[in-house]
Amino acid sequence: MSEGTPYRIAVIGDIHKSWSDFDVEFFNRSDYDLVLFVGDLPGRTHRGTLDVARQIARVQLPALLIPGNHDGVSVMQLIGELQQNQRLIERSSRKQESLCEELEEALRPVQMCGYSIHRPAGSLFDLIAARPHSMGGPHMGFRPHLKRKFGVESLTQSKERLRDLVDQCGPRIIFLAHNGPKGLGAERNAIWGCDFRSEGGDFGDADLEAAISHARKSGKQVLAVIAGHMHHRVRGLTERPWRTTQSGTLYINAARVPRIFRLNSEMRHHHIAVEVSQSQTEAREELINPGASSQASQVS
Ligand SMILES: [Fe+2]
Ligand SMILES: [Fe+2]
Repeated sequence: MSEGTPYRIAVIGDIHKSWSDFDVEFFNRSDYDLVLFVGDLPGRTHRGTLDVARQIARVQLPALLIPGNHDGVSVMQLIGELQQNQRLIERSSRKQESLCEELEEALRPVQMCGYSIHRPAGSLFDLIAARPHSMGGPHMGFRPHLKRKFGVESLTQSKERLRDLVDQCGPRIIFLAHNGPKGLGAERNAIWGCDFRSEGGDFGDADLEAAISHARKSGKQVLAVIAGHMHHRVRGLTERPWRTTQSGTLYINAARVPRIFRLNSEMRHHHIAVEVSQSQTEAREELINPGASSQASQVS
């Protein structure tokens, strides 16, 4: 990568079934170097989620997906997590490994990631995939599965795991997560604010915030933090911002839901284009019109 040719990343926010043949064709025709999926594919059922995953698997570019709180989990697990019913969480978690294995298989060659480091060819940065299946807020979602699969059973242990990953990285890091970090606002429509409580609150992940802070204290540059989960539209308020910059880091919330929608009677397909060069990292929203796909509408 030289200063004149930035490394180009397409970020796909929470899909929630909004994925089509056009998306496959568009990205396969594009000149992106990497495609990042922030998770949340479903599908009302696991079978529906696998159908979406098989469609995503047709993308012929290097691609990573971090599973969200709806991916590779059962409805009973989600209910247990939402109610913080520990017995239901334990009992319903037993199938998660097999559900995730089926999802991983359906996605291939798109790589499912989490608690992992990736060094895309030609990128001059390391990418850390943070804690998978995050639900946001103070609780660590899907704890039994994370314990069995990764040996992580608390937010404290998750902080330590992410800290270890940071220590293994070079000087320039991009984080990929399902939910963004804590510390960016407590208003209901803050970039990762809690919109489903009238009093709002910061719904970001404390372990991710700690990892970013550790990277900076170690003298490393955090180029970007890319996530989703807290959907852009907030009832009764203006939409939350999809990006912010703090301490030289670009934060991106890609969760425009639905990502396929009608604008002025024409269909638009949403994604975020990120360009990483030696000196800066920039992002813009892309609203692609399948009827005139050579005339992409950009929203800065
Ligand atoms: Fe989510
Ligand atoms: Fe979502």
